[in-house]
Amino acid sequence: MNSDPSRQLPDRNLALELVRVTEAAALAAAPLVGMGDKEAADQAAVDGMRHMLHSIRMDGIVVIGEGEKDEAPMLYNGERIGDGSPPLVDIAVDPLEGTTLAAHGMPSALAVIALSARGTMFDPGPCVYMEKMAGAPEIADLLDLDRPLGETVKLVAERKGSRVSDVMVVVLDRPRHEEGIAAIRAAGGRVRLIAHGDVSAALLAVTERSSVDLLWGIGGTPEGVISAAAVKCLGGQLLGRLWPRDDAERTAALEAGYELERVLDRDDLVSGNDVFFSATGITDGDVLQGVRYPSAGGATTESLVTRSRSGTIRRIRATHDRAKLRAVGGEAN
Ligand code: FBP
Repeated sequence: MNSDPSRQLPDRNLALELVRVTEAAALAAAPLVGMGDKEAADQAAVDGMRHMLHSIRMDGIVVIGEGEKDEAPMLYNGERIGDGSPPLVDIAVDPLEGTTLAAHGMPSALAVIALSARGTMFDPGPCVYMEKMAGAPEIADLLDLDRPLGETVKLVAERKGSRVSDVMVVVLDRPRHEEGIAAIRAAGGRVRLIAHGDVSAALLAVTERSSVDLLWGIGGTPEGVISAAAVKCLGGQLLGRLWPRDDAERTAALEAGYELERVLDRDDLVSGNDVFFSATGITDGDVLQGVRYPSAGGATTESLVTRSRSGTIRRIRATHDRAKLRAVGGEAN
């Protein structure tokens, strides 16, 4: 018997159950990698994820999902998931983060999910995009969305004791980032342009001694909340500020009570202290290996599985028997 009252018995780590969910989504999407049809790949990932998600004992509400109910028949925002028993949780899902990456067989497509206590995830409402900045623990206090970007790059170099030309900033390749990219380069920093996938880029940016020091740019708000959940588990910081696309979106956000000037940090985006996160690679990337088929009947996956409260970060490599998975309902395999 445990006689020391200061030592709690270990409780259930939901992340260890979530890994099966992201594995299922990745395995379902993988046969469609490179087939040029991003909707089909996304649908397969959604089906795979939803099938496995229902096996988890919880009372979950999808806060970040595939969209509003009328456009997303499954994993829609507000959908109840689980058997209704405790714990009460908010769920953020992106069964296929990087639909175009998967459709074109390009690197860094992921299946991701995050869970935290009910009412602790930021609901972006009508706002599709947010400006984001993320970095590892050693530069977390330097992140600032108001300071000129070039100055931040120089401060990062100073903190790291390196040259400004050593600093690498990952940025989505979009016309809206032209000015920011020019500012980074003018300061002497380097830019890694990516076609899609700023969740994967955020994971890379907060990983110490990775090839990237900073993530900057305007990307999806759902991806921002999911990235914040991951950053809470992995360490580091992510800042976000809502970025309405036009006057209609601005008005809708203001009418719904959103403060558009406010800079949200990882704890504003996910305020719970017990956050669970799992990501499985669909295509190979810097952070995770994608699904591979070493033999006709087998598949392998690699996942990153973390929990904020314990701070444990696991990498789980799994081999799967596709025929057996089919027999237990994993139809896409
Ligand atoms: P999808 O998986 O929905 O295709 O999103 C990929 C993505 O690149 C995200 O990682 C990123 O946050 C967002 O799209 C950027 O949006 P846009 O392509 O409209 O600039």
